[in-house]
Amino acid sequence: MQLNPKEQEMLDGHNGEATRKAMEILAALGTIYGAERMLPVTSVQVAGVSYENLGEAGLEFLTEMADQGGKARVLTTLNPAGMDIENWQSLGISPEFADNQKRVIEAFARMGVITTCTCTPYLSGNLPHFGEHIAWAESSAVCFANAVIGARTNREGGPSALAAALTGCTPEYGMHLDRERQPVVRVQVKARMEAGNGAPGTHLFGALGRTIGEQLAASGLRPVPYIQGIERATLEELKSFCASLATYGGTALFHMAGITPEAAAVAVPAETLVVTQPDLEAAIQSLNDAEPGEVDFVSLGCPHLSLGEIARIAALLEGKQVVKEFWITTSRPNKQMADRMGYTHIIEASGAKFAVDTCCVVAPIKGRFHTLATDSAKACYYAYAKNKFKTVFKSFDQVVEEALGKGAA
Ligand code: F3S
Repeated sequence: MQLNPKEQEMLDGHNGEATRKAMEILAALGTIYGAERMLPVTSVQVAGVSYENLGEAGLEFLTEMADQGGKARVLTTLNPAGMDIENWQSLGISPEFADNQKRVIEAFARMGVITTCTCTPYLSGNLPHFGEHIAWAESSAVCFANAVIGARTNREGGPSALAAALTGCTPEYGMHLDRERQPVVRVQVKARMEAGNGAPGTHLFGALGRTIGEQLAASGLRPVPYIQGIERATLEELKSFCASLATYGGTALFHMAGITPEAAAVAVPAETLVVTQPDLEAAIQSLNDAEPGEVDFVSLGCPHLSLGEIARIAALLEGKQVVKEFWITTSRPNKQMADRMGYTHIIEASGAKFAVDTCCVVAPIKGRFHTLATDSAKACYYAYAKNKFKTVFKSFDQVVEEALGKGAA
């Protein structure tokens, strides 16, 4: 691939060893994927932050890059870590894990990475605009950025996202190209997507993401679906849908008629898959492999909660007491705003816990719980795949009821 003089200088080591290594990673990726050149990026989101996933080898790599002078050249934020950075003790994290996790965060901070630790960077100050080229790594955020915002990013790995941060560029292939953003299959949704009474339908959109993702995977189609039949969707429902579609279908982009920004500009494919009400109900059923009475762990916030969702939890918990371990996962900026609005006081008075900077999937909690209640289809997938938890999959409001001990009623 062709590098411009500035990029060639980076590869030749004129900007330090960390930058040289970063450009080497990107040039190799570009060659593998047939990119002709690099594109400047304006925003990066790095995944692979939890020490549980990184291990000592990952920490050593990050420390070395920081020691060798690596510095982010563009706005760069982090995916969730393995613990609440400020309040890890209350979540039962061991001091040894906390020490290692802090070393990871410190290495990123030395490289000028903003340590937000959230999978919804678009809710916390890292919000690209339509058409912007970016390099994000978290799969749910990648899908949200491409589909809902109309920015352009491949699903980066941890090292390639960090490399984009340190060089300010990424190879031009995949989702950066118009031709790769064209839909190849039409999905007609013939199922009710509203929870009723204005209640959040995050679980319905999660179930829909699972249904479409699995149908696409089974059909062997390149996964850019064009979705019709959905009249409205909130930001929170879309973030739930993105997380699920990316998990079950490996999908980095979809178009949704009347809702996402590129839908009106692309040709509608002829080939059609149909999602029916029984399909949706079967997906919901399949995400429930336990009885409500078995639930010993409740979590909302996969992907990380918006401030509106935190406000709703506070309203549902006000004056009540939870009877189960209940984690509310969100970003630090949203938690700080929740403090100011009095939501934190209400939520913590109920016995529920904020788990900021982290989530029920990346925290080291294997063996501590048996059955998770959640509204997130993605969390269900990883609860079993990573921790062997059973799952109870319900609506947002019903999950709060579970925490209050009313789930079995
Ligand atoms: Fe985010 Fe953790 Fe879910 S990183 S998308 S809350 S698995």
